[in-house]
Amino acid sequence: MMLTAQLVILLGLLSSHGAVADVLLRGGTVISFNHSTESLDILPDTSVHIVGDRIAGFYDSSSFFRPSAGTEVVDVSGHIVSPGFVDAHRHAWSTQYKGLLSNTTFATYAAFFGATTPLSSGGTWTADDVYVGERAGLLESLDAGVTTVIDHAHHTWSPETAEAGLRGAIASGLRVFWCYAVQDYPVSPATTDSGWGPQKQLEQIKALVEKGEWKNSSTRIGIAFDGVAEPLNELDTAVFDLAKEIDAPVMTLHAVGGPYGGDGLPQVLSHLGFLNTSLPIVISHASFLSSTDIALLRSTDQFIALTPESEMHYGLDHNSTHLVQEQAALGVDTHATFSADVIGQARLWLQSERLRVFHELLTVQGRVPANNPMSVNQAFLLATRNGGRALRRDDLGVLAVGAKADITVFSATSPNMLGVARVNPVAAVVLHSHVGDVKHVLVDGVFKKRDGRILVDWKDVGTKFLASQEKIRKAAVAADLPGQVFLGPFGPAGDTVVVDHVDVVRGAGTGY
Ligand SMILES: *[C@@H]1O[C@H](CO)[C@@H](O)[C@H](O)[C@H]1NC(C)=O
Ligand SMILES: *[C@@H]1O[C@H](CO)[C@@H](O)[C@H](O)[C@H]1NC(C)=O
Ligand SMILES: *[C@@H]1O[C@H](CO)[C@@H](O)[C@H](O)[C@H]1NC(C)=O
Ligand SMILES: *[C@@H]1O[C@H](CO)[C@@H](O)[C@H](O)[C@H]1NC(C)=O
Ligand SMILES: *[C@@H]1O[C@H](CO)[C@@H](O)[C@H](O)[C@H]1NC(C)=O
Ligand SMILES: [Zn+2]
Repeated sequence: MMLTAQLVILLGLLSSHGAVADVLLRGGTVISFNHSTESLDILPDTSVHIVGDRIAGFYDSSSFFRPSAGTEVVDVSGHIVSPGFVDAHRHAWSTQYKGLLSNTTFATYAAFFGATTPLSSGGTWTADDVYVGERAGLLESLDAGVTTVIDHAHHTWSPETAEAGLRGAIASGLRVFWCYAVQDYPVSPATTDSGWGPQKQLEQIKALVEKGEWKNSSTRIGIAFDGVAEPLNELDTAVFDLAKEIDAPVMTLHAVGGPYGGDGLPQVLSHLGFLNTSLPIVISHASFLSSTDIALLRSTDQFIALTPESEMHYGLDHNSTHLVQEQAALGVDTHATFSADVIGQARLWLQSERLRVFHELLTVQGRVPANNPMSVNQAFLLATRNGGRALRRDDLGVLAVGAKADITVFSATSPNMLGVARVNPVAAVVLHSHVGDVKHVLVDGVFKKRDGRILVDWKDVGTKFLASQEKIRKAAVAADLPGQVFLGPFGPAGDTVVVDHVDVVRGAGTGY
């Protein structure tokens, strides 16, 4: 809907009293969202007017508009104005593990690099390391046009590391739903020295909420909790009671199912009375859901975080995920292991969905497909609108009047983008763009990346990061962890199994 000129001028006048200057993104190709049709509307040659932290209006080149005197006008003609992307599952702290995990399976990751391992929570990672990792990890998202992240923050192995991660999230400038992980850390010095554990963690969550450092930022405090199990126990009750007490914006939990165990989490949550509530629940992976689980997610409007690359890389599978895509948002998971731009995840998922359908037709039925089962618009909505829906936020992951001004502007002039934006801007973003095309990123109406550069002192961040990473890498090498594979019992399926290597080199033996 185009606003009338009078309303636009009125909004301009009102906002001139605000602290943040209004912004006008002038003359772009806008990928807007229509709430009544639940679909994308492309608005060519359209300006986006931002007042404070919200989108105030769109108007095309024929509308009359006079921005108020203080309005910052930014020419985006020829470029694509997109909602910022939503990453529904992340462990942002663990950035320093980059490069060490290129070969890992989930069992190997969990055994040697996961949050409860000696390398992670045994004392090597200090509060400063967590701060640096969290911030750098989230800045990678920002650089890639991601504006909202649900962070499953399982760096809470001491009160200091917990608070440092929260500060790292705040300092990133993103909209972070920083979800404090309530769990045991058996090898943490804080556990052995002072009995650190869930009870004390719940107290710290309350204290952090009250302390309120997050209030003057786009970060909000949620809860991550992997312990829930039947029958109902005191800790489950305490965690969900606290979520209510602090009015948590989201609760996130891991579940894989199948050979990994943990089947039927939606049913468990439902039996315990935790699913059909106003608290948004996001279950990460959920690779093996039964039809009963899926029906429960639908009827209670709760979501899974589908992390395509993670589930492919680690061997978590997509047994039933394709059956529940309208209750799914996209996530990245451990960005130290693979790529962290949500568009990359959307692209991988789109093409793997196409392959799944085509494989069934070609190999099982021996027939040739006439059409394509999944469109770029569907992939785009998974990466944007569905993330907002997972959080029960109609104002996130969409460009619409009244929505949060979380915006990613793609330059459409690179060799890969040239010309496509005019024809099909959604295809341009989903299939042709790369992080280098992300020109501007705004969160809450404020530029966080501008003209291709994130607005932080990256040299300073980088220097601290490199020192921290080198310390952690040396500790991993000293413990002989790189290259290890985990052999032994893992979940209800028994011992892990060594699979054959793929070899792309001629001759005997494996080339890697
Ligand atoms: C949404 O689409 C409907 C149907 O095409 C249209 O009537 C309505 O004006 C659109 N809303 C906006 C905000 O563009
Ligand atoms: C809030 O944060 C902004 C920067 O994000 C800063 O300029 C401002 O001083 C802060 N205000 C308070 C009250 O801390
Ligand atoms: C999903 O996994 C189960 C075993 O856990 C299997 O019986 C079922 O056939 C699988 N479903 C699909 C669609 O592959
Ligand atoms: C969820 O709760 C609402 C009332 O709060 C009820 O109307 C609805 O039937 C419930 N749905 C399920 C699946 O239990
Ligand atoms: C990757 O796997 C190969 C073969 O198992 C191994 O030699 C190599 O050390 C692994 N690399 C890393 C970084 O773990
Ligand atoms: Zn995870």
